[in-house]
Amino acid sequence: MVWKTWKRQLVSWCAVMAVTAPLTACTSWEELGALKGGRERLADGLHTIEPTWIDGLTVAEHSVSVDGTTITSKYPVVPGATDFTVDIRTTMAERETEFITQGGGGELTQHAEFLVASNGVLGARVISQYEDRVDASTHWYDVASGEALPWTALLNGDQAVDQLAALVALALYKDHDVAADAMPDGLPTPQDELPDAEDTEPALVDPEAVWKSAEKHEDSPLADLGFDAAGDLVVSFSPGEVADNEVQVTVADSEPLLSRFGRSARQAVRDGEESLELPSNTVPTYTIDCDRVPCVALTFDDGPGADTPLLLKHLEAYSAKATFYVLGQLTEGDPDTVRAAMEAGHEIANHSWKHDNLATKSGNAVQDDIEKTWKAIEEATGVTRTTVRPPYGSYNETTQASIDYPLILWDVDTLDWQHRDTEKTIEAAVSGTRPGSIVLFHDIHRPTVDAIPEVLSQLHAKGYHFVTVTELFGGRTLEPGVAYTRRD
Ligand code: NI
Repeated sequence: MVWKTWKRQLVSWCAVMAVTAPLTACTSWEELGALKGGRERLADGLHTIEPTWIDGLTVAEHSVSVDGTTITSKYPVVPGATDFTVDIRTTMAERETEFITQGGGGELTQHAEFLVASNGVLGARVISQYEDRVDASTHWYDVASGEALPWTALLNGDQAVDQLAALVALALYKDHDVAADAMPDGLPTPQDELPDAEDTEPALVDPEAVWKSAEKHEDSPLADLGFDAAGDLVVSFSPGEVADNEVQVTVADSEPLLSRFGRSARQAVRDGEESLELPSNTVPTYTIDCDRVPCVALTFDDGPGADTPLLLKHLEAYSAKATFYVLGQLTEGDPDTVRAAMEAGHEIANHSWKHDNLATKSGNAVQDDIEKTWKAIEEATGVTRTTVRPPYGSYNETTQASIDYPLILWDVDTLDWQHRDTEKTIEAAVSGTRPGSIVLFHDIHRPTVDAIPEVLSQLHAKGYHFVTVTELFGGRTLEPGVAYTRRD
């Protein structure tokens, strides 16, 4: 897709999102009517698609606008393809963190477009725009293995990467008037004599090897690698990279450079089939990889309370997602507030019926208490059961044996319930948080709720992503009855 087209597409997309987006903007692909008809089938340009045939495909939005810095990231959520969803969202999250920690200021806008969605292959291009600068990279997914793969997975090993780099450098020099000494970083000096291509069989992709290779070629312009409709490889250069306009270099007869996965992707593009079989239509339970970006889970206990709605507003300003460990009794008394928190994208989890010390109870009594609380939560929100936080963080072997859910404690205790002091709450939360932390607050205290805007501001400035407990532990297995205090 040419530069101007996707820019136009971005504008229409935003217009649609602005109207339809609640806090957790989840717009179905079909609803993005402005996208339809925008499909480009340039034989000599990057091939993109609108995979309306993927059941339940939605677009989620993460947007923050504070202190002169605006971030808007829209990422596809693909049911049945968790790793793909996570790779795309996390790539955007990495660029958000980089943008913020380098000082922010101005506007970062990110979105993804699909390259292919058939023949067991998904491909998408993540596009990040900051003022005149555009970063783009392509991301791939092998349905059979359920693995997200980087651009290097298309190519038949490191030697093919070098070969492609040489071909692209030569094309820039010969066809696009790029001077030999003005090649973008990561490309060799153009030479008429290309490195010898070994006549090798296309290899099966070894995920570990291709990720390692992608890391080695981290800043390579080849990371923006796709196909044209004829199945030739296309490398795109954003405006300003090698010329004022966008430049797309097409490498004809590129099949010998491709891995077996690359050949499947190429075949899928050429066939243009509009169907994809995914193993399930389950919506991913998490969308971010907290090993790749700094995450923190803010947790609020003992509510819902009178100031919970105000807290929800504070969180919304940062697109921050939190976890509410609610009491069953209060949930039964104020289901609307708990439902509002759920609808805003927060996690609602179990903090017992009325805050009894579970360690003093019999196994049966613990079971009944937790079960009754889940029922109140389900009644109010319909959410699935996730985790339990025992009151006072208190539990013993009987408690552990009687609770069929992971026990979530914390590694950062703000002691807000004790001092009820906004400044102390801010200080404890910000100074204590490390990547993977779980921070304990109580939203029934007004000084705590008043502390949240500053907590969000300071942690955001450090590049943190505010996630639910389930997202924090995404990709890890949590055992029932086992206590966890942070993501290590
Ligand atoms: Ni509590």
